[in-house]
Amino acid sequence: MEIGGLTKSFGALVAVNNVSFEVEAGEIMGIAGPNGSGKSTLFNLISRIPFGADQGTVRFDGQPIERRSDKHITSLGIIRTFQREATFASLSCIDNILVAIEQTLGKRGKEAEKLADEASELVGFPRNFHNMHAATMPVFRQKQLMMATAVAQNPRVLLLDEPASSLVESEIDWVKETIVGLNELGITILLIEHVLPLLMSVSNRLLVMEQGRIIALGDPAEVTRQQTVIEAYLGEPA
Ligand SMILES: Nc1ncnc2c1ncn2[C@@H]1O[C@H](COP(=O)(O)OP(=O)(O)O)[C@@H](O)[C@H]1O
Ligand SMILES: [Mg+2]
Repeated sequence: MEIGGLTKSFGALVAVNNVSFEVEAGEIMGIAGPNGSGKSTLFNLISRIPFGADQGTVRFDGQPIERRSDKHITSLGIIRTFQREATFASLSCIDNILVAIEQTLGKRGKEAEKLADEASELVGFPRNFHNMHAATMPVFRQKQLMMATAVAQNPRVLLLDEPASSLVESEIDWVKETIVGLNELGITILLIEHVLPLLMSVSNRLLVMEQGRIIALGDPAEVTRQQTVIEAYLGEPA
C-alpha cells in the first residue's frame, strides 16, 4: 500500500497533514503518537470509514483506491477495527460477525456460519459467547469480537486501532499472540497502539505521528531513541 500526501482538516485543525509512507506486504507496521496526533483519522482516510481525505492518494496493489467507496475498499481486503468498542449492541455476537460477512463477502447461511466459526476460533473468541448480546459483554470479549469480525471478512490488510486499550496484561498477551498469528497467515497489519512494549515487540517498523505529521519512521528501537520522538511523548499531557 502506498499512501501519498494524505491530508484531512476539521475547520482550522489539520488532523492529518501531508502524510506519505508505504506499507509492504506481510509486514507489521506500528503507529504511535500522542493523543490527537491523527492516528485514528489516518485509518479513517485509508478505509474511508467514515470519511475519506481532502487530498492525497492511496494505492493498493498499484491501483488508486482513494476515490473508491468504503465498501469497495473493504471488499479488497482492507479491514479496520475501531478504537472504541464498535459492535452492534443489540445483536448477538454471532450475528455481528455474520452481518459483516454478508456485507463484505456477500455470503449467508451455512457458508457464512462456517467462516464465522473459523474466525472466532482463530482469535480465540469462545463459542459460548456467540449467542450473547454484544452489549452485555466485558471489554475484553468485545475486543475479541471486533477482531473476529475483522478476521471473518478475509483481510489482506488489517488496520487495528488500539486493540489493547483498557485491557490488563494477560489480555494484552492475547492481543500480541493474535496479531503475530494473523501476520504469520500472511495478513499485513497496521497497528495503532499506546501500549509501547506491545508495539515494540510485534512491529517490523514503527511510524510516529505528532500533530498530523509523521515525525519518525523506521526500525522501532532506533525510532524510540530519536529526540523528536522522546519530546513528543514527554510533551503529552497525562
Ligand atoms: N470527526 C472529527 N471532527 C472534528 N475533529 C476531529 C474529528 N476526528 C478527529 N478530530 C480531531 O483531529 C485530531 C486527531 O484526532 P485522532 O485522529 O482521533 O487522533 P489520535 O487517534 O492520534 O488520538 C484531534 O485533534 C481530534 O480532536
Ligand atoms: Mg485514536
